[in-house]
Amino acid sequence: MTREPRADAHGPFHAASQAQPNIALIKYWGKRDAALNLPVVGSISITLDSLWTRTQVRFTPEQTYDRVSLNGRSDEAEAKRVTACLNLLRERAGVAWGADVASQNNFPTAAGLASSASGFAALVHAGANALNLQLSDAELSVLARRCSGSAARSIFGGYVEWAHGQRADGTDSVATPLLDADAWPLRVAVAITSTAAKQIGSSEGMNRTARTSPYQSAWIDTQEADLATARDAIHARDFDALALISEHSCLKMHALAMASQPGLLYWNGATMECMHRVRALRQQGVPVFFTVDAGPQVKAVCAPSAIEQVKAALRDVPGVLDVHDTGLGAGVRAIAKDAVEA
Ligand code: ADP
Ligand code: DP6
Ligand code: CO
Repeated sequence: MTREPRADAHGPFHAASQAQPNIALIKYWGKRDAALNLPVVGSISITLDSLWTRTQVRFTPEQTYDRVSLNGRSDEAEAKRVTACLNLLRERAGVAWGADVASQNNFPTAAGLASSASGFAALVHAGANALNLQLSDAELSVLARRCSGSAARSIFGGYVEWAHGQRADGTDSVATPLLDADAWPLRVAVAITSTAAKQIGSSEGMNRTARTSPYQSAWIDTQEADLATARDAIHARDFDALALISEHSCLKMHALAMASQPGLLYWNGATMECMHRVRALRQQGVPVFFTVDAGPQVKAVCAPSAIEQVKAALRDVPGVLDVHDTGLGAGVRAIAKDAVEA
């Protein structure tokens, strides 16, 4: 282990960062170590560009508590998770300072749009900069992983793989980029079917699944082959192959979760209708496929030429409240501190 630089005692211990959510094409679901947040499977995702989290962190020597504002309000459960994440950074810096954190998501929080991914990638990046920790992207990814698994992937842009890893300390369960966004600039239509926060968060949902779903071992046993197929499809820019394996992984994850006790049902009627609409488009020759995370929103990934048609088709589905349009984006980065309202 290299010795970590100590925080510069001269301050100002204040930084801000932006990260974008990512959506998994080959899904992460299940933890093999809750404390280190190590996954039971590897996963592959794409980082988006027009949805974002912006977070500013200011540490104050002598302050003994954290103050957390998320989207302009304070919530105890959310603050606890932020404090647990900042504790990892304080440990590395060798300080016990409290922090003031203000964060904004420009999309619904805890609704299946990966707010925990962009949220914790931005928090770890801004927090590390505020403490003058000089961390590599891989170290940031490991720290973000410990706060929310999917956040490991939002450190990077484009197509990203988060490895299962082998080491007991989790230092190799890290995300790495597979392909730049520009190398295969697919687009994503995001159909919003509800803006409400989910009743069962991802962490709790995957724990219930591991405890009660009879399909857990089949899920683990078949993931390696799906990852290999997706990796090959991405490197070959083979849209049809990526479409088939991505829909398969999505439906397999939901089947696994639905088979838990009590069953986890993240979809509503419009979610289902959007999936049928996407498949009908593909049958007509439109290059598009769907994926759905732990929530009712449908992400339709398509070739750039198809985006308007896909958006129009999804807007037409009863129960769809709104359809966003995004490309693939970059990894986490520093932004001006005044870009985030305190
Ligand atoms: P999602 O599908 O949005 O990722 P999760 O259940 O995985 O839903 O995680 C939602 C939780 O992530 C929130 O309840 C909150 O604790 C945390 N979170 C979301 N956005 C942020 C943010 N910008 N900063 C810090 N934590 C966040
Ligand atoms: C369905 O990363 O939100 O979106 O590690 O417990 O914070 P925690 O869970 P989280 O789970 C994401 C699950 C998923 C699939 C995926 O993103 O790979
Ligand atoms: Co999440």
